Amino acid sequence: MAEVTLGLDLGTSGVKVVAPGRDGQTLAQDTRGYPLLTPHPGWTEQRPEDWVAATLTALSEVARQLKAAGHTPLALGLSGQMHGAVFLDAHGEVIRPAPLWNDQRTADAVEEIEARMPRSELIARTGNRAVTGFQLPKLLWLRQAEPDRFARTRHVLLPKDYLGYVLTGQMSTEPSDASGVGALNLASRNWDGEVLGALGLSADLFPEVTESWAVSGRLSPELTARTGLPAGLPIVAGGGDNAAAGVALGLTGARPEVGSVSLGTSGVLFAPLSTPTSDPEGRVHLFAHADGGYNLLGVTLACAGALQWLRDKLAPDTGFETLLTEAAAVPDGADGVTFLPFLAGERSPWMNPALRASWTGLALAHGRGHLTRALLEGTALALADTFEVMKPTVNVSSFLATGGGARSDLWLGLVSGALGTEVQRSLQEPGAAEGAAVLAMPAAGLYTTLQEAMDTLRPVGRSIQALDISQARKQHAEILGREHSLIEGKSVLQ
Ligand code: XUL
Repeated sequence: MAEVTLGLDLGTSGVKVVAPGRDGQTLAQDTRGYPLLTPHPGWTEQRPEDWVAATLTALSEVARQLKAAGHTPLALGLSGQMHGAVFLDAHGEVIRPAPLWNDQRTADAVEEIEARMPRSELIARTGNRAVTGFQLPKLLWLRQAEPDRFARTRHVLLPKDYLGYVLTGQMSTEPSDASGVGALNLASRNWDGEVLGALGLSADLFPEVTESWAVSGRLSPELTARTGLPAGLPIVAGGGDNAAAGVALGLTGARPEVGSVSLGTSGVLFAPLSTPTSDPEGRVHLFAHADGGYNLLGVTLACAGALQWLRDKLAPDTGFETLLTEAAAVPDGADGVTFLPFLAGERSPWMNPALRASWTGLALAHGRGHLTRALLEGTALALADTFEVMKPTVNVSSFLATGGGARSDLWLGLVSGALGTEVQRSLQEPGAAEGAAVLAMPAAGLYTTLQEAMDTLRPVGRSIQALDISQARKQHAEILGREHSLIEGKSVLQ
C-alpha cells in the first residue's frame, strides 16, 4: 500500500485527476470532458455545474482505482485554468455561466480600469496592466451589461476555487491564481484596497487568500459518500495551472535558469524570478508563484488550440499525427506561406483583443501540409515575440516542455529554433494535475516542505534538436509589419 496524494487540474477541455505516490509515479488517473460555450464571437464560457459533474465522476473513478489497488489518498490539491469568473449569490448559487481566461468581451472594461488608475500604478501594485482575459474586468462587464445579475452577486471565485467551495463549503484562494484576477497586491499577496476602491468594488466580493500548500478545507460528508474518497479528506488550496505545472517541473526562483514552455490550448512561457520584476508596459504578466516566489508569464492565446482548430474545421477526419507528418515534409518558411495565430485576439506581447489570425502567401501549388507547417511556425514565432519582451528580466537558458503539443519533436524543434534557446522534453511530462498533487504532499506529511518535494520530484529532461526557422522568421516580421498598418486606431505595436 502506497501513500498517495490526489491532484486535480480543471482545464479548458476537461478535468484531470491524478494520484501519484511519494516518488511521483502515477498510481491512478482519470480525465472527463465538458463543453466550451461560444455564445458570441470573442466570448468563451463554461457552466460551473458541468465542471462539478465531471470532477465528481473523475474523483469517484480515481477513488475506485485506488481502492482496488489498496491505496488510501491522504490529501487533494487543486489547480485549474486561471482568470475565469464564477459569480455567486448570497446562497452560494451560480448566477450565470463563467466567462473564461480567453474571453475577449471586456475591452471597454479594460479601458475603464486604466482610466481610473494609471497603467504604471496598476503594474506597480498588481504586477500587471488591465488585461481583457483577467477576472477583474469581467466584474465591471457584469456591472455594466447585466446589472440585475451584478446586484445579486455576493462572491466571485476563480474556477478551481469554486470547485474547492463545492468540495468543502469554504471559500478561499491562493496567490498564484489570485494574482491573475488583476487586483492582488503582489507585495502583500493580498487584495489591493486602493485598486478595488478606485473601481467602486468591495473587497468582500473576494475570498480569503491562503498559502498555496495550505489546507483550505475538508471534503464534505455528502461528497465523501458520493465519491468514495476518505471522510474529511484535506483539500489543499493548490495553484493556477501554470504555477502548478511549474511546481511539477521543479521551477523555482532559486534556479532561474530553468523555465518552461507549454504548448497547450494557449502557448505559455514561464520564467521563475529570484526577485519580482514586472515588464514596464505589462506586455507579459508578473504573477505570484505557488512556491511562495514569483514568476514572469508570457501567454499567446492560440497554440495547440490553433492546431486543434485547423484539424476540427479543415481536416475533421484526419489525426494529428498525419497533419504533423505532412508539415514535416515542408521546408522552413512553408514555401512562402505565413500564419499569424491570433484566432482569439492576442495577449503577449501585443495585448490586443482586436487582432485576428491569417494565412498569407497562398498559391495553387500549396497544400494542407503548408497550412499546418505555417501554423506550427507561426505559433513558435509568437512565443519568440513574447520571449523578446521577457529577456531583459529573466535568466532562462533552458525551457522544459509541457502541454499536449510537446509530444511533437517537430513543433518543439521549431520552438527551440524560434526562441534561440534549448528546449528539453522530460520523460515523465508532468503537468498541472501532477503539480497540484505535489502541492498537497506537505499537508499529507509525505515531505516536510514544498521545496523538498519539488527538488526530489523534478523531472530529468532530454534536449530537443533545434530546427532552422530563419525563413519563417523573416516572413513573420514582414507580415506583422503589414498588419500593423491595417489595425486602425489600435496599433499592434503600441
Ligand atoms: C494564463 C492563461 C492560460 C490559462 C489556461 O495567464 O490565461 O494559460 O491559465 O488554462
